[in-house]
Amino acid sequence: MKIIIINGPNLNLLGRRENNIYGNETFNDFFEKLQKKYANQEVSYFQSNIEGELIDKIQEVGYKYDGIILNAAAYTHTSIGIADAVKAIETPVVEVHISNTFSRETFRHKSYISPNAKGVIVGFGLQSYELALQSFLT
Ligand code: DQA
Repeated sequence: MKIIIINGPNLNLLGRRENNIYGNETFNDFFEKLQKKYANQEVSYFQSNIEGELIDKIQEVGYKYDGIILNAAAYTHTSIGIADAVKAIETPVVEVHISNTFSRETFRHKSYISPNAKGVIVGFGLQSYELALQSFLT
């Protein structure tokens, strides 16, 4: 299966950003292990801090890939543009969050992406991404 993980703003800082919330591991270290564990799948990774670049990537892969694992980070709670892109494409999107957004500030409780996601995985740390990947494989 051809799956892409798309990460939004500030997720390039994992491992040195609010470690009490997001943990100590860098995404690259986690992703390397994930790729090894699921070596028979084609799993790729894209990160951007820029809303339009995330939309471009969603459009680019959204008719070719089998699945998108999307952590739009802060844009989850603000971006109608990303929500519209998720709605427009054919590839199913699983929304993930590292932290339990529902146990945090109220502004994190709203997701513009969830209504058009295949499913949502929230609060399992970096394991959220693996659970999302497994959801495409079953
Ligand atoms: C996040 C939660 C968002 O509220 C926050 O803005 C992030 C990361 C998460 O994975 O827990 O940057 O998407």
